[in-house]
Amino acid sequence: MTNQTTIDPDELKRFSFNVWSYKQGELVSLMVHIGDRLGLYKALDGAGPVTPAELAERTGLQERWLLEWLRGQVAARLLDFHPQAAPDQDTPNEEDRFELTPVGAAVLADEEGSLAFAAGAFSGATPPETVDKLIDAFKTGVGLSYEDLGPNAAHRTERMLGPWVRQALVPEILPALDGVTAKLESGARVADVGCGGGLALAAMAQAFPNTEFHGYDPSAHATARCEDKARELGLDNLKTFTASGEALPDAPTYDFIITFDCIHDMTRPAEVIAAIHRALKPDGTWLIKDIRSQPSFKDNLRNPMLAMFYGFSVSACMSSALSEEGGAGLGTLGFNPEVAETMVRAAGFTRFHQHDFDDPSNLYYEVRP
Ligand SMILES: C[S@@+](CC[C@H](N)C(=O)[O-])C[C@H]1O[C@@H](n2cnc3c(N)ncnc32)[C@H](O)[C@@H]1O
Repeated sequence: MTNQTTIDPDELKRFSFNVWSYKQGELVSLMVHIGDRLGLYKALDGAGPVTPAELAERTGLQERWLLEWLRGQVAARLLDFHPQAAPDQDTPNEEDRFELTPVGAAVLADEEGSLAFAAGAFSGATPPETVDKLIDAFKTGVGLSYEDLGPNAAHRTERMLGPWVRQALVPEILPALDGVTAKLESGARVADVGCGGGLALAAMAQAFPNTEFHGYDPSAHATARCEDKARELGLDNLKTFTASGEALPDAPTYDFIITFDCIHDMTRPAEVIAAIHRALKPDGTWLIKDIRSQPSFKDNLRNPMLAMFYGFSVSACMSSALSEEGGAGLGTLGFNPEVAETMVRAAGFTRFHQHDFDDPSNLYYEVRP
């Protein structure tokens, strides 16, 4: 039993507020998911201040439900409120207006044009059967692979990581690497290891038709998405293999290899790094994108989103990296610049250069044999 008499009531209030703010976050997350899924942010984008009836008219949705959602969005400080009557009046005022500002639209509506787009990360709750398996993993030590997370995992990851890949990879990131764009323009062989749904592959295969692109991922859900994408976009220079990075060709084959947000998810990262070393041509380049983190937990505590990163780790990254007995289990924050450089040099690479492209979540490393 908690001894209530020894507890400072103010501290209790502050602590409770902190805990309940996470419950609020859970429910606001659901509302963002609903807004994203129903196209509400897109409908509000550029519309200026609208009434619930106008939003209902635009979307074909029920006005009463929209009023409740709109008011919740104002409470969450995601929409601006333009009251048309005294603000303390509780009866719904049909003339009250709600607005998604241009900044709000950049984060919540503009998936194709804004690097800050975030609504795609709000994918709804974790299915109860996955939660049960995570509870078991705390007992057995063995986690769930991305394949175990089901067909939606690749789609969710893609929507979360998509803006930077679609909008910055070809125009900003590749040109910063020594000689890579020129090789891709004239014709080269490229592998994306841990390719997921193939976002990066599709962006590059469209931009560099003379180059052949190969995606490797052990998740059949991921490679199926990647193949669908290649078909939809008519990309005949993109091929996928449902295989781990360890299965890369055992001889220098590729001019350019990328690993995006996946080394820390791997059960055997050292083996995959060694396979990349064997598969890369002597004048080739390996581009690693991995989570922006520091070697020490104390330094990472300066990241205001650190708790979210640990949530990603337990529910996806570390879980995947422990999905086999003896897995390395690096997890979301585990492949920091120090670990990356040590592991990469241990595999025989001699050049390791860190790039910071202002991507708030990731650092990039240009690695050469
Ligand atoms: C967070 S997702 C990143 C996907 C993609 N690179 C992107 O940026 O959208 C991590 C991916 O790594 C894959 N993965 C896990 N272990 C792997 C391994 N040993 N070899 C290759 N891919 C692996 C998972 O199946 C998953 O698709």
